[in-house]
Amino acid sequence: MPIGSITSMALAATAVVLTASVIAGTVTMVIIFQIETEGVNMTAPPTISTTTEGPPPAMRLPKNLIPERYEVFIQPHLYSQIIEVVNETSPNQTMLFTGYSTVYFNCFLPTKSIYLHSRNQVISNPMVKEIISRNEVKVDSFHHHTDGSDFLEIKLRESLKLGHNYSLYLEFSGDISENLEALYVSTYTKGVPSDVVDPNSMRYLAATDLEPTDARKVFPCFDEPEMKAEFDVAVQQRKSMSAIGNAAIADRNVIDVDWELTKFHTTPKMSTYLFAIVVSELKEKCTVYEHQPVTMCIHARPAAIEAGHTEYAESISRKILDFYNGRFGITYRLNKLDQVALPDLNPAAMENWGLVTYQEAGLLYEEGVSSLLHKEVIATLIAHELAHQWFGNLVTMKWWNQIWLNEGFASYMSYFAVDYVEPTFEIEDVFIMSDLHTAFEEDALASSHPLSVPQDDIQRTYEIIEMFDTITYSKGAIVLRMLADVITQTTFNKGINSYLKAFALQNTDQNDLWEYIQKAVQEDGGNTDVAEMMDTWTNQVGYPVVTINTTSGVIYQKHFLFNDTAESRLMWHIPIRVMSNISDASPVPDWLTMESATKDPFQSKKGEWILANVNCTGYYRVNYDPDNWQRLLNQLTTNPNRIPVMNRGQLVDDAFNLARAKMVNVTLALNFTQFLVNETAYLPWESAVRNLKYFVLMFDRSEVYGPMQTYLRHQVEGLYDFFSNYTDNNAVPQKHSLQHNQITAIDVACSNGLPACLEMTTRLYGDWMKPNSTNKIHSNLRSVIYCQAVAQGGKKEWEFAWEKFQSSSETSEKEQLRVALSCTKKTWLLNRYLEYTLNPEKIRLMDVASTINYIANNAAGQALAWNFIRAHWDYVSLGDGAMLIEGVTRRFSTQFELEELERFNATYELGPANAAVHQAIEQTQVNIQWVREHQEIVLDWFEKAVKDYDL
Ligand SMILES: *[C@@H]1O[C@H](CO)[C@@H](O)[C@H](O)[C@H]1NC(C)=O
Ligand SMILES: *[C@@H]1O[C@H](CO)[C@@H](O)[C@H](O)[C@H]1NC(C)=O
Ligand SMILES: *[C@@H]1O[C@H](CO)[C@@H](O)[C@H](O)[C@H]1NC(C)=O
Ligand SMILES: *[C@@H]1O[C@H](CO)[C@@H](O)[C@H](O)[C@H]1NC(C)=O
Ligand SMILES: *[C@@H]1O[C@H](CO)[C@@H](O)[C@H](O)[C@H]1NC(C)=O
Repeated sequence: MPIGSITSMALAATAVVLTASVIAGTVTMVIIFQIETEGVNMTAPPTISTTTEGPPPAMRLPKNLIPERYEVFIQPHLYSQIIEVVNETSPNQTMLFTGYSTVYFNCFLPTKSIYLHSRNQVISNPMVKEIISRNEVKVDSFHHHTDGSDFLEIKLRESLKLGHNYSLYLEFSGDISENLEALYVSTYTKGVPSDVVDPNSMRYLAATDLEPTDARKVFPCFDEPEMKAEFDVAVQQRKSMSAIGNAAIADRNVIDVDWELTKFHTTPKMSTYLFAIVVSELKEKCTVYEHQPVTMCIHARPAAIEAGHTEYAESISRKILDFYNGRFGITYRLNKLDQVALPDLNPAAMENWGLVTYQEAGLLYEEGVSSLLHKEVIATLIAHELAHQWFGNLVTMKWWNQIWLNEGFASYMSYFAVDYVEPTFEIEDVFIMSDLHTAFEEDALASSHPLSVPQDDIQRTYEIIEMFDTITYSKGAIVLRMLADVITQTTFNKGINSYLKAFALQNTDQNDLWEYIQKAVQEDGGNTDVAEMMDTWTNQVGYPVVTINTTSGVIYQKHFLFNDTAESRLMWHIPIRVMSNISDASPVPDWLTMESATKDPFQSKKGEWILANVNCTGYYRVNYDPDNWQRLLNQLTTNPNRIPVMNRGQLVDDAFNLARAKMVNVTLALNFTQFLVNETAYLPWESAVRNLKYFVLMFDRSEVYGPMQTYLRHQVEGLYDFFSNYTDNNAVPQKHSLQHNQITAIDVACSNGLPACLEMTTRLYGDWMKPNSTNKIHSNLRSVIYCQAVAQGGKKEWEFAWEKFQSSSETSEKEQLRVALSCTKKTWLLNRYLEYTLNPEKIRLMDVASTINYIANNAAGQALAWNFIRAHWDYVSLGDGAMLIEGVTRRFSTQFELEELERFNATYELGPANAAVHQAIEQTQVNIQWVREHQEIVLDWFEKAVKDYDL
């Protein structure tokens, strides 16, 4: 999943908050075939326009045959270790896997051809039988389609009969992938870092990662989410290894001196993309969950288990499962839950039913080494993936066009689960704002897409993969939060409980969700028309800006787009809750469902300010008349606490983005950074820093940058001092939002050259570099201090970090160093670092895209990274091409860069990065125009501000 690899869990300086939206892996589905398969009403076949012969429509299965159960036998021939290398070119390792499967299915339309999915496999010996008579139906021929559909077509001598049940037996073989897809190989070194040099310490494992369409590369199957079936799985593995699957182990038998056979219990009915096995020498640590007979195991490298790195995940997983059991009113379906920390995995995590896989950094916490904030990442990921055990695994979306039903829900639910297991973090608001802003950013582009797109638009695998983006994850979560706020959380919870019960083991679309939430609304005496409201948010692209004239009380809505010339007449059903300096927030929202309205609550009496979208529960921006903006600004200057902290952050964010869309002057936005000189809360600072990031990207290669740095240095000084008692003593505050802000303070202060900060980072890093010294830098502050010290330093500092990166076996330490290495200002070091990404022994494939993006994020590395990805596109895009494009083109703001990008678009094989390149082109056009129009004004504003401060 593209989104997943974005994270790679790097705890970069300001990127410490991992949004749930960054999480990959996901799921959803329910069955339209429910009636057919369970109702056994064979006289009413589904209404599908399929003829009995000829090719099926487009890229979708014809749905004339519906699977019920698979028996799958898989044998990965891989060795866990290479004992004897015959010679350099032929180590005796093998990537072969073989197997056979039988799928039992019902026939709903007579046909002489069986279509199912299979890719990159050699298929042999197909055999079809009618179940009751046990008669064989002769196979005429079989072949793989080469039209991109991945269909395996099996032509039969006679037609399968309506209403009859059949089985299809096949043998297959394929290669274990070395590219982290389907059934793939992952490697690690056993034990301590010094083992790296010893080839005997290398260990190999095989794991699966199948979402969305890779199950077909493991065994032939009806690889669509609606084609749910039960799975009886058996794995034959080398005796030194053990196998785990979705269901509990039923039986383990020694076959001979080399092999062992592991048989698993039958899975619940589930979608193929949730199928999983892991065959490895990983160790496990298990506990039986006391409220329910669920055995929960965490699997990891033996060294990580022994060092106790799984303990944090262990301690919260049980609580999270408990929380969801209560919240959803349905207990977790299986009797075991395995969670595996894999040395290599493309998404950050994947929610396979009963066998959730994570990148190591997503599950392993190293006490005393990992940042305290890393716990948020782990808690969020586990909360996200476990939410999927209901939203996605138990109830699944019908088709990938509504994957938001999986991802939006999992992201939304994780807010509550994390708050439940870690209440002292007080982190819920931060997560919410993070999703809100991630979605806002993406969704203000004309190239964005609705949460729910037409089914027919999502057919090919790359189209499906493109759906796993921030719109799906973050906007999905945010619009659910908006709905819950409108109808109350209690009613919302009631609605989803009955929805989950009604559709367990089936597939749904969003209308099913609306229907069940509507029932709950009616039972609770509400009058919201759920579908009418929500369809405006899920079926339409983008979001509105609500403009309020507080003199007249007139409000109106307009599609918010960065491109102010783009025409749109879309309209939303917008709940608006307001407060003012004399009245608190209204308990029920007012509604704007037409283009405009005049309403009393929006009219300012006696010069009071009005604030709309209290606590940012709505997915929209707000603009005001200039007088009201000024009154809000005055309030922020005199007593900011009168305005809720989420809104303090949002006012900054709205002002900047409205300026970006040219709806207010850019000077208004900059004015909204002035109150920060006395602000210590995280959300307003985060908002300002994030928005100013755009100014940094657009201007850090121009004359604006000097006065801008002076201004920021001045603004951050108070915040830096606020934390200096902590920072100077290598300590951190209690609340997590303040811990985040301490890092912001150091990052902003050092990046803009505050002498106290530069001195501090150089001193702490220098102490660590001294011979025989240990690292005394507080775990929270390591990532920002490493980066700043490497930025100020030269070869010596860089090579020290590289040496530590290579020798460290501590996951989060490695991650922080990997980021820090990209911070140097020395071009030759950056170039060499880029070259390292081509060598998987230096930089793992899954980390390639993020490493290059870190380098591109550095003004000194931007151009180098762009040249580099074009020179090595075939390799670097294997990781995550879309994410690379987004990262590397972020500074593009000149005609020349636009032309280069267009040339790239025309001449390279883009694959899943296709949409990202088009977005980048649009964004570059917007940037060019923005810089042209704003450079003078912004320069002027900063110069004046700096003069006022008399610096
Ligand atoms: C490698 O091959 C040798 C000789 O054929 C064999 O003895 C050894 O067991 C093999 N290694 C592994 C890991 O199976
Ligand atoms: C390495 O071993 C393989 C298989 O035994 C053999 O075919 C090949 O010629 C050998 N290569 C060299 C360089 O010895
Ligand atoms: C803005 O939108 C208009 C109208 O859709 C379009 O013609 C123009 O190319 C867009 N401008 C940019 C910079 O994308
Ligand atoms: C807004 O959120 C804060 C917590 O951040 C909460 O205390 C307050 O009650 C909320 N206000 C409204 C009107 O919901
Ligand atoms: C707001 O409404 C008043 C009264 O109708 C009008 O005079 C003023 O121009 C409006 N302000 C804006 C910014 O549209």
